[in-house]
Amino acid sequence: MAASCIPSESAISKGSFEDNFSIMWSEEHFKTSEDGQIWYLSLDKETGCGFQTKQRYRFGWFSMKLKLVGGDSAGVVTAYYMCTENGAGPTRDELDFEFLGNRTGQPYLIQTNVYKNGTGGREMRHMLWFDPTEDFHTYSILWNNHQIVFFVDRVPIRVHKNNGEENNFFPNEKPMYLFSSIWNADDWATRGGLEKTDWKKAPFVSSYKDFSVDGCQWEDPYPACVSTTTKNWWDQYQAWHLSDSQKMDYAWVQRNLVIYDYCKDIERYPTLPVECSLSPWA
Ligand SMILES: *[C@@H]1O[C@H](CO)[C@@H](O)[C@H](O)[C@H]1NC(C)=O
Repeated sequence: MAASCIPSESAISKGSFEDNFSIMWSEEHFKTSEDGQIWYLSLDKETGCGFQTKQRYRFGWFSMKLKLVGGDSAGVVTAYYMCTENGAGPTRDELDFEFLGNRTGQPYLIQTNVYKNGTGGREMRHMLWFDPTEDFHTYSILWNNHQIVFFVDRVPIRVHKNNGEENNFFPNEKPMYLFSSIWNADDWATRGGLEKTDWKKAPFVSSYKDFSVDGCQWEDPYPACVSTTTKNWWDQYQAWHLSDSQKMDYAWVQRNLVIYDYCKDIERYPTLPVECSLSPWA
């Protein structure tokens, strides 16, 4: 993979949980390993748990390793996302990874979505090529003014392009926090809500480590790093397109792992959204 498109591990700054995050709700459902390197969020019948970054960012590379709830996790959703605000406000921008649990031995699905000004409805669902409950895997977002790319273990699974015009689909104006949370979504998550959460299996625990950001940290009113001067790697040509080897990986994912793509759902969108005509290969 072209190293120039993606920061090398060594360029990445890491910090403790407290340096980077605060708990959004339910401290008692949050734990860390003794050395502080691994974080655990748990869900039981009472509630789940969530955390968020203290800082906001606009553009860059955002990455974390997650190991998802194993065993019978039907109904349980672990969300890992970026959002302009701490809530579901009507004008929020948001970039989502959601991991939809399943009955023991049945495959997890990963759902991604993009919101701009409060409008989402841009779901994609993928199968994974590994069991995400067995080990930590890396889930990352590349975000610049040209594209938003969702990566799993550095394989691009989804490319959301900008058309360079004022539009209603590409979030690029507002800085975002990064969040993660675990919650009960057995009204819709697993087989469309047919499979219910089995509370006898609680608590359900997702684990996290190696949070890293290489991007533009927001400072009011406007940090220098958001100006598109090509000074930063994410503002350089190589970060605006997939590399050749990324294109090959992406093609493989498209062929083999896509379960749902809103851009193919003409029953839902008789006129497909504008962004669906933008080529991920460009
Ligand atoms: C759960 O497993 C079933 C059966 O294999 C599958 O159809 C479904 O897509 C899986 N995932 C979710 C989130 O429903």
